[in-house]
Amino acid sequence: MKSTTALFLLFCFLVPSALAQLKFAFYGPSCHRTGSIISTVVADSFRRDPSITAALLRMQFHDCFVTGCDASLLIDPRPGRPSEKSTGPNASVRGYEIIDEIKRRLEAVCPGIVSCADIVALATRDAIKLAGGPSFLIKTGRRDGLRSNPADVNLPGPTIPVSASIGAFAVKGLNVDDMVTLIGGGHSVGSIHCSLFQDRLNDPAMDRSLNAQLRNTCSAPNDPSVFLDQRTPFVVDNAIYGEMQRQRAVMRIDQNLALDGATSGIVSRSEWAVAKMVQTNRRMEALEDAIDNQTKELVAAIAERENGCLKESSIDFGNLNVLTYLHWFCETVGFAPKTKEHRE
Ligand code: HEM
Repeated sequence: MKSTTALFLLFCFLVPSALAQLKFAFYGPSCHRTGSIISTVVADSFRRDPSITAALLRMQFHDCFVTGCDASLLIDPRPGRPSEKSTGPNASVRGYEIIDEIKRRLEAVCPGIVSCADIVALATRDAIKLAGGPSFLIKTGRRDGLRSNPADVNLPGPTIPVSASIGAFAVKGLNVDDMVTLIGGGHSVGSIHCSLFQDRLNDPAMDRSLNAQLRNTCSAPNDPSVFLDQRTPFVVDNAIYGEMQRQRAVMRIDQNLALDGATSGIVSRSEWAVAKMVQTNRRMEALEDAIDNQTKELVAAIAERENGCLKESSIDFGNLNVLTYLHWFCETVGFAPKTKEHRE
């Protein structure tokens, strides 16, 4: 593994920086109306239903956490070909119609230019601002993935222990601070179905009046939902951290963030502010880079193993990005591509 990393570092010097795709105003030259079209659709949708901020935030998280921010969550299942969308954790993800409407309008003015992954990122950014959250610039240039496999969906469940959650975020290159900011920022809006926090209803430590209220709501049929942040459910702010400290978080993992020694200090830090969410959003952007680096590392490993570049790799990676990058890489560094027959 060490040698692969070293090889990868070497390749960094050989490979021009064309791979650092994300940049500010990426669509300036190719589709300058991208921002205004997205913000119009998001503002109209928000006026009709302010809960779309929660819908988009969750959609972005569920997309980015699984194979990077590549819109693979948006790919519809087909008969015999389930996709990420078909899985349990994504069953209640909503807001797809907003992305569809934006894509439809963008295709009418700039066909084939703006990726769905960028639409999700920009729409979520706009929706955060409309819900009282920070206003910030984000880089664009994400590419849409072609792969959407239910087996890739490794999203954490509501009762995941804090330590396991730290591990799950770490795999994505996000640290404990990022995790607490993202979970709290995300769960500062939106709702959760009663079936997903039954354990909290029987938790004697939970704030009594909230417990009684939730029991009452959840006694209704058809699995009703309640707000994740009981204080300011439509505002992207830090109120939920106060709720966590008062044993008033609804979801188990949210409550445990305030109780676990690894995260309680971060929760109680009063200076948590919107600015931090902006920073963390930038770290979410780095998920792209992490994916790219994985791809680069795989390519480095192949090139190392194959002692050069094969024209057609005999290895099935189930990942188109790797092959595309491998071909690009071989051309760029001037390795004479070898066919399988000429393999040494
Ligand atoms: C350990 C991490 C996380 C777990 C276990 C988790 C789990 C959940 C669960 C179980 C729900 C309720 C779903 C339902 O009732 O159908 C939910 C809702 C939600 N989550 Fe998370 N989540 C996590 C992290 C995040 C992050 C990082 C974000 C965004 C940055 C986020 C944003 C949301 C939002 C906005 C909702 C409400 C959605 C709506 O109202 O439609 N979550 N989450």
